[in-house]
Amino acid sequence: MLETVKGLLKEVKGFTPKSEKEVEVFRLKFLGKKGKLNELFNTFKSAPNKNKKEFGQAINILKKNAEEKVYFFKGSFAKSSLLLERVDLSRPVNTPGLGSKHPISLIRNHILSIFKNVGFVVSEGPEIEDDWHNFSALNLAIEHPARDMQDTFFVQTNPDMLLRTHTSSVQVRHMEKNAPPIRTISPGRVYRNEAVSARSHCIFHQVEGLYIDKGVSFADLKQIILYFAKEMFGEKTKIRLRPSYFPFTEPSAEVDVYWGLQNESDHRITKGTGWLEILGCGMVDPNVLTNCDIDPKKYTGYAFGMGIERIAMLKYGIKDLRFFYENDIRFLKQFSSI
Ligand code: PHE
Repeated sequence: MLETVKGLLKEVKGFTPKSEKEVEVFRLKFLGKKGKLNELFNTFKSAPNKNKKEFGQAINILKKNAEEKVYFFKGSFAKSSLLLERVDLSRPVNTPGLGSKHPISLIRNHILSIFKNVGFVVSEGPEIEDDWHNFSALNLAIEHPARDMQDTFFVQTNPDMLLRTHTSSVQVRHMEKNAPPIRTISPGRVYRNEAVSARSHCIFHQVEGLYIDKGVSFADLKQIILYFAKEMFGEKTKIRLRPSYFPFTEPSAEVDVYWGLQNESDHRITKGTGWLEILGCGMVDPNVLTNCDIDPKKYTGYAFGMGIERIAMLKYGIKDLRFFYENDIRFLKQFSSI
């Protein structure tokens, strides 16, 4: 009798199923109603008393082993491809490389935060614009020669529609909808029909600012630009304003920051002057205010506009504008810690 149990125990211990079905056949064979164990328990009852202890223990060991096998293998074939593949779940995962913000986004956010800190609100508008908002409202009548200053992409099927050449168009929209005092900053992508080179591109990004209130003067304009230049390029930054021309501002100016003439590269990028142009600005032309239903006798204002790429090139020492659009990982990765 004991020999039979030992034989069965050997069978149980050696059991390694290859399918769910084999587990079930095994379970029925040993633990089923008509299985080996019940059979053994029945013979156990009529066994001589002196053998009962040893026999009983052996049956129990057999039962335990059979149950463990079933417990271990049952269900393992159905779902656990993990078990079969022997995936080590305790291994650290391969973390995907974290992305980084694009330098244009970094500089845009920086510029916006500088102006938000002094009360400017962000406004945005469409990239496909109509003639009115991009040109006419800004004092550029249909035949105005200054339209040539910005080579424009027109929508072929509708000559009234174009890709905006500056975000001044957003300021027009903002003035149409809001009454002064107005203090707004308009970031966005703009388009000009220019040959792509290290210094110019047909797509670039701008931030333009507008402040309209009673008694706004050129001194206010100069002050906000100086504040911006110091926040962006450091406390010691010096600026200068040169007279210029924009149809929508009068008077108009271009602003340079003093870059210095320490080394050969400074000489090259500043063309030997030490100064670098960063933006255009001026007092909003009364015609523009009138076009937007703002009374120029009551209100005055200033406006300015800058290219984000230009600021980013200066700030990070990037020599070729095209890097911004190629999305070369080796370029972008350099900004991951900023
Ligand atoms: N809109 C001008 C440009 O795109 C910049 C500018 C804005 C100049 C506001 C003066 C005032 O070049």
